[in-house]
Amino acid sequence: MINLKGQRVLVTGAGGNIGAGIARRFAAAGAEVVAHYRHSAEAATALAEEIGGSTVRADLTDPAQVEAMVERVGTVDVLVNNAAVQSVCPLRELSTSEWREIFDANLHAVFTLTQAVVRRLLDEGRPGSVIAISSIEGDQPAAGHAAYASAKAAMNMHTRASALEYGRDGIRFNTVSPGFIGRPGIDEHWPEGVARWHAAAPLHRLGTPEDVGNACVFLASPLAEWITGQNLAVDGGVSTHPTW
Ligand SMILES: NC(=O)c1ccc[n+]([C@@H]2O[C@H](COP(=O)([O-])OP(=O)(O)OC[C@H]3O[C@@H](n4cnc5c(N)ncnc54)[C@H](OP(=O)(O)O)[C@@H]3O)[C@@H](O)[C@H]2O)c1
Repeated sequence: MINLKGQRVLVTGAGGNIGAGIARRFAAAGAEVVAHYRHSAEAATALAEEIGGSTVRADLTDPAQVEAMVERVGTVDVLVNNAAVQSVCPLRELSTSEWREIFDANLHAVFTLTQAVVRRLLDEGRPGSVIAISSIEGDQPAAGHAAYASAKAAMNMHTRASALEYGRDGIRFNTVSPGFIGRPGIDEHWPEGVARWHAAAPLHRLGTPEDVGNACVFLASPLAEWITGQNLAVDGGVSTHPTW
């Protein structure tokens, strides 16, 4: 039912775990994918070869690099703001510079890139879809994740505010909030967390990068043409109850 042939999609952080899954699902739906990376050149290049897409490099915390990237890529129909950093630190030990680093990467970069992409769409009078990868932590912070959760919560509101301003221009904005998404080696690295998640999730498994990608493809597609300003949790049902 979903065919995104002719659509250009820019996925940030596509050299990472979830970004690669998102890129793969868009490619499977027929879209042309531009896989953004910063340091993960090898992974992004291999991914682009696999899905028949292209790559582009930028540190998204540098507005000049973001501007240059958008100039190089040209107009895209779909932007997926997926790139982010996560660190665990109790608030009393968190330095101002660490707090700023997380906000720079997880919130300010999303503002800069989204603005540059949306300006092009507006100039050309074209519709578009912007999806930001948030987290269930935007609503339910975990201990030690205050900066991360705060930045995600702010990103959720940036999305809603953007939806309000640009609906009339045919540009839709939504967030996808994943729960615990598996990656190779996670069972060995954090068995206790995996076990707790299995016990708490009504659907009884970790998520996959492709689960997140499927939600993004849906939100970018004509099936979601009357959906904007929303936050879709992709979490196996964990947020149906207050904690895990
Ligand atoms: N993993 C989970 O369970 C989970 C749960 C909820 C939400 N999320 C969200 O899902 C998204 C992807 O997470 P992930 O687990 O796939 O993480 P990941 O594997 O670490 O991938 C994140 C990517 O973001 C890129 N990135 C970070 N800072 C950047 C910057 N300043 N400029 C450009 N690129 C930058 C990195 O690119 P390079 O490697 O190229 O430098 C990295 O590959 C994030 O938004 C995260 O908050 C993840």
